[in-house]
Amino acid sequence: MNEAEATAELEKLAREIAHHNRLYHADDAPEISDAEYDALVRRNADLEGRFPHLVRPDSPSRAVGAAPEGPLAKVRHALPMLSLDNAFADEEVADFVARVRRFLKLADDEPVALTAEPKIDGLSCSLRYEKGALVLAATRGDGATGEDVTPNVRTIADIPRRLPSEAPDLFEIRGEVYMSKADFAALNARQAESGGKIFANPRNAAAGSLRQKDPAITAARPLRFYAHGWGEASALPADTQLGVMRAIERWSVPLSTDLEVFTDMAPLLAFYRGIEAKRADLPFDIDGVVYKVDRLDWQRRLGQVARAPRWALAHKFPAERAQTTLVAIDIQVGRTGKLTPVARLEPVGVGGVTVTNATLHNADEIARLGVRPGDRVLIQRAGDVIPQVLENLTPDADRPAYVFPDHCPECGSEAVREEGEVDVRCTGGLVCPAQRVERLRHFVSRHALDIEGLGLVHIESFFKDGLLQSPADIFRLHEKRAELIGRERWAETSVDNLLAAIDAKRQPPLDRFLFALGIRHVGEVTARDLARRYGSWVAFEAMVDRALAIRRGFEPTLGEPERKAAQRRDAAVVAAVETPNIGPEVANALLDFFDEPHNREVLAALFAAGVAPADLVWQTKESPVTGKTLVFTGALETLSRDEAKAQAEALGAKVAGSVSAKTDLVIAGPGAGSKLKKAQELGVEVIDEAAWNALVAGAA
Ligand code: IVH
Repeated sequence: MNEAEATAELEKLAREIAHHNRLYHADDAPEISDAEYDALVRRNADLEGRFPHLVRPDSPSRAVGAAPEGPLAKVRHALPMLSLDNAFADEEVADFVARVRRFLKLADDEPVALTAEPKIDGLSCSLRYEKGALVLAATRGDGATGEDVTPNVRTIADIPRRLPSEAPDLFEIRGEVYMSKADFAALNARQAESGGKIFANPRNAAAGSLRQKDPAITAARPLRFYAHGWGEASALPADTQLGVMRAIERWSVPLSTDLEVFTDMAPLLAFYRGIEAKRADLPFDIDGVVYKVDRLDWQRRLGQVARAPRWALAHKFPAERAQTTLVAIDIQVGRTGKLTPVARLEPVGVGGVTVTNATLHNADEIARLGVRPGDRVLIQRAGDVIPQVLENLTPDADRPAYVFPDHCPECGSEAVREEGEVDVRCTGGLVCPAQRVERLRHFVSRHALDIEGLGLVHIESFFKDGLLQSPADIFRLHEKRAELIGRERWAETSVDNLLAAIDAKRQPPLDRFLFALGIRHVGEVTARDLARRYGSWVAFEAMVDRALAIRRGFEPTLGEPERKAAQRRDAAVVAAVETPNIGPEVANALLDFFDEPHNREVLAALFAAGVAPADLVWQTKESPVTGKTLVFTGALETLSRDEAKAQAEALGAKVAGSVSAKTDLVIAGPGAGSKLKKAQELGVEVIDEAAWNALVAGAA
């Protein structure tokens, strides 16, 4: 490569990396994987190493992250918030230690102790405590200037408002705000149901949740924190990295669960391998292990280069990728008729697991990748999610483009893509055997009716033989006991066990029953919201009929201008459904379901077969707060505001927005201010969230 080429490539890299920095740090919406990003940074570093005089003033090697944008106030960090140099191979870790030794001119027999801990995939945050009080919390931003997220951070339970008196007068704790994998999945499920933003990964969800103008939104999101260092400090409680971290831990700030010190390479690398092995089982995403020189006097002498300290190194895990051949593209038909393409692959090992299938998401994704059966593809497995196809490695091969089916492969009905939707759906409804089997499977699944012993294989074979056609048939299976016993692999006891398991579910809780119906957009959370709001099937169905009548009333008006009329109709429908968190999309899906005579028939058959959804008992029961007026203030940690309000209302209480002489009870969480003060002045009873949860549980 000559200088002109290097100059051009460095310019291109600077532009690309800046673009991806903005997507990642400012928009929380990355387009490329961390491994791909790292590859760009490495390529840049490699070229700069070979052509040091070509390093650009705006080189990505000199910048950390992206300068913050948006509505939050900017804060200048007292000490810069640094980034880390990366290593992938074991030799690079050995090189790092050798560099440290050379820099410090250490004797060969002088041990170098290093701390090691997981590198969690969150966003870094600096917490400034003055005289023990949390006074400022800031994101990293570009390393010099971050965003003020103090009110938001005050809602995170892991972060104490005060440090004990033994802490120095001024101390900045630095660490990572993150979201657990389980909380991330639950948040996305909730977002999907309410039509909110879907986050790409836990890191983006954490960033999007923290960088909010309204701290109430942050409070409703399950954020966690762990400390991995510190910034400005008036004094240090120890003279080693580990010592200071243990002091921070004593001040009730969580640290990484795995934090150890090593002086030899072999155990250090064994620690890295150990963390890598349990990576998929950890409750949060990590992307490597961080090593830090333990002695603080050495850290001071080592100092930093450009954007990263000389005394620390991130030892990243290799991306779990492999190449294989795409054998076929199969189409699966889901419960709501959605056609999902699945890549069938020549079996290949990726990070210790044999992969034979990968998701292709939808027709657009296939078009974007340009993949066809026969192509070589690059696949990636991240944690325990379904493997993905990243790239077609043989785009130029002479093969026709894949044509997405326009008919359902299961029932032959037309498959259509509605305007503004990415998914193609089978229009066969209950005529489509795939949809019927999926519906049955969903109906009995763990979070729905949870009928033990009725797995997919049984459903499929019962369906094929005409024993089960619709959900009501499940509750009439006892009429076919003799026939069942005669079936292969079924004996009297196993049949009786199954019939008993079915009998046990004749009165399913209302929320499970609603979820089991498989109404589009009505997931577990929405089903629970509806059940809490209406308490009984009778009340729920009355609402549906009311709302349907209102919606039908709008139909003749949907002429001109269409959009305004639709908006007014949607507003009326939402008002009629009267349930927190339920917007027009969900409300209309709910009504669509009940507007379909087929579905009413399915329900009628279920009720005729003796199924009776159980009322929510605590809805109608007297509770200690029935008839009382409550006020929630401060952050709630386990509940959203809406859920707390729904609980209170279900217990027969009224929820008010401000404290007055009429208030009977105040539920105060962290950060409660003037309302709590007023309650205390007026002598109103105040309890915390735990006491509230106990009260709700007691009333259930
Ligand atoms: S130390 C001066 N330790 O990774 C060194 N960072 O890629 C500051 N991170 O900005 C960082 N886990 O946001 C350190 N155990 C850990 C970490 C960690 C995650 C993040 C941190 C940092 C980024 C660098």
